[in-house]
Amino acid sequence: MSKNATTHHRNRRVLVGVTGGIAAYKSPELVRRLIDRGCEVRVVMTRGAGAFITPLTLQAVSGHPVHEHLLDADAESGMGHIELARWAELVVVAPATANFIARIAHGQADDLLTTLVLATTAEVAVAPAMNRQMWLHPATQANLDILRSRDIRIIGPGSGDQACGETGPGRMTEPEEIASLLAGDPADMAYAGRRILVTAGPTWEALDPVRGITNHSSGKMGYALAAAAADQGAEVILVSGPVHLQAPAGVRRIDVRSADEMLAAVLENLAGTDVFVAVAAVSDFRPARPAEHKIKKSPGEDTMTLELVRNPDILATVAALDSPPFTVGFAAETRDTLANARDKLAGKGVDVIAANDVGGADSAFDSDSNTVTLVHAGGEISIPTADKYAVAVDMLREIDRLLTGG
Ligand code: CTP
Repeated sequence: MSKNATTHHRNRRVLVGVTGGIAAYKSPELVRRLIDRGCEVRVVMTRGAGAFITPLTLQAVSGHPVHEHLLDADAESGMGHIELARWAELVVVAPATANFIARIAHGQADDLLTTLVLATTAEVAVAPAMNRQMWLHPATQANLDILRSRDIRIIGPGSGDQACGETGPGRMTEPEEIASLLAGDPADMAYAGRRILVTAGPTWEALDPVRGITNHSSGKMGYALAAAAADQGAEVILVSGPVHLQAPAGVRRIDVRSADEMLAAVLENLAGTDVFVAVAAVSDFRPARPAEHKIKKSPGEDTMTLELVRNPDILATVAALDSPPFTVGFAAETRDTLANARDKLAGKGVDVIAANDVGGADSAFDSDSNTVTLVHAGGEISIPTADKYAVAVDMLREIDRLLTGG
């Protein structure tokens, strides 16, 4: 996705730093809550954190090995510290001890986590947790002022009973509240409680075990829609033809090859779906009789005839069901874009056609940007040219309006 896209979506790649305080037992809960909101999470622990929680626990909840050492040859050959700093869209340190806050206030880089804080350009937030006297100490307060002056966000701490037996400020803010502050409250998102099924990418229609009919669809638009819908709280199923893209965070991807497989996967997963968006570039035809073994050329054979048969129309099939979800199709056109889109809207019986002018340089098949006009029974809505994630966000907003009649 283009750099522009990061200005639109919430922080999805989150690096959680855990330092050595008793509140570290709450860090796995924070990791969980972030993942619930569609974030991908990597964890870095300081040496002190190891006294309170094991890397194995955090590895189990985050689904990735925990990073602990600055100069660990194994870790550096996987995702090195600079790569990790670049990967993150948000760094949140919870709990952050008084010592850790002092170290980052003074620009130290004496372990992996402090080094990452120096090396990253991502947003940084800390959730302090410490004894109340340590919190109230002028040294800690001065360090916090330095952090604030550098736009590091300070979350909490709360007040109450402390592990040390005292009562006062210094309790780490609860994980649910930290996650909600940083990644939004799922219940407030436009697509919370809705299920979206998206098809994306090309199909592959086998001719024999090594050859097939396919097309240049990159899958980028479908993947951007899936990512944007997940970011807005939807449960997303992405039925994908063969592409070179990673499944967006929080999206369930089902891999298929042919149009027949795509149709079967769609129908199998359609129950409970509120919105179906067909972005896949489905091959209209497939070889009538795919060969079981590799087709060999024979001497003197100068031409070859392939018999093709019509593939099912997945979008039209879904739209024709008894109680279909809200259906959205795409129409890639090089001329008469809107007229063709209107024909498709009526012909396939769908709610919206996203007409896509593939003639221009900004809207080519493999491009990162797109220009789309939504054609529906009541009119047309133009979506300005933008990167595909931003177009997806705009499309979802308009689809939500049409769905709710707003
Ligand atoms: N579609 C589908 N199943 C097919 C063919 C298309 O679900 N077998 C969907 C696509 O995902 C897209 C829309 O239908 O949402 C595209 O419609 P289609 O009529 O196939 O577009 P073109 O192939 O561009 O049609 P034509 O060549 O007739 O212009």
